[in-house]
Amino acid sequence: MTDVFILAIESSCDETSMAVIKNGSEVIALTILSQMDTHANYGGVVPEIASRMHTENITIVLEDVLKKANMQVKDMSAIAVTAEPGLLGSLLVGVEFAKVLAYVYKKPLIKVNHLIGHIYANRLEDKLHFPNLSLIISGGHTELIKMTGDYEFELLGETQDDAIGEAFDKVARVLGLKYPGGPNVERLALEGNNTYNLPKVLNDDSYNFSYSGLKSSVINLVHNETQKGNEINRADLACSFQVAAVSELKRKLELALKNTNIKNVIIAGGVSANKYLRNELNDLCKKYGATLNMPSFIYCTDNAAMIGAAAYPLFLKGEFVNLDLNANSNANIC
Ligand code: KG4
Ligand code: ZN
Repeated sequence: MTDVFILAIESSCDETSMAVIKNGSEVIALTILSQMDTHANYGGVVPEIASRMHTENITIVLEDVLKKANMQVKDMSAIAVTAEPGLLGSLLVGVEFAKVLAYVYKKPLIKVNHLIGHIYANRLEDKLHFPNLSLIISGGHTELIKMTGDYEFELLGETQDDAIGEAFDKVARVLGLKYPGGPNVERLALEGNNTYNLPKVLNDDSYNFSYSGLKSSVINLVHNETQKGNEINRADLACSFQVAAVSELKRKLELALKNTNIKNVIIAGGVSANKYLRNELNDLCKKYGATLNMPSFIYCTDNAAMIGAAAYPLFLKGEFVNLDLNANSNANIC
């Protein structure tokens, strides 16, 4: 069979990224232009600024990725793009750009779901093992999914309110840490101990999650203590929050490991870059004789390589879309 080269485009949030992926798993070239420093000035992503910066950067990113790959658009087998979910204006920049490339170069166009992209990030370094339990933990999502095959998903549980990454970001802000908060909370937590007694996240036996209560308890604690003029041990609070947030993921994953007897676990999304979380989930999986797949750090947060990996099974099935493709800010996996 001839090799398949996919040019993948990702612009759903604040990274403009493109990749050339060979046969669904080999990263020929990857470029990620992050807007993080700009948004850090505002304490979070400003959608209007994000879409404007994608517009400014997208051709630069294309030139860069093609140069790294030493290839041209005409050499590609298909163009893949993240069309859902994400910030509408940001998604539209990538979708419209992909449509132009597909039209001008007469290439098939593939629509990719960003969350499925996060799962398929794991395919860049290993094959996906089925059935598996996939835990998507990002800035916008916290979902536990059972996968029985390529693109065969069953939602087991999801957050009822905030996503885990969102909780990390809000807690970071109240602790005076810069955006994006997750890595900064992780760093500060290394200097502290689990001394604050924070409430359980969602004390039930479903596979659902809830992070707004935990987030609010940290915010309230900081406000109350500050009002009373008491010192807060920020490192201890960061550590206590991280332990509470991860222990709930562990509890729900353990429930699923027990109930389903599935022996493969995948973690995906920005929060899966957290080392404490990776170690804790690794220990849990070992206890159940399950293998844990987690992406390398570069593929945990938003990138186009994972979009190329997720596009490959669709390419093989001939699942292409027309030029009337639109962006959808709210789509789910299943
Ligand atoms: O997957 P991602 O890049 O974007 C979304 O699709 O949302 O995830 C971004 C989220 C942010 O909330 C960020 O704070 C969090 O992932 N994050 C982390 C870490 N690195 C990124 N959270 C905890 N620990 C980290 N090391
Ligand atoms: Zn993401």
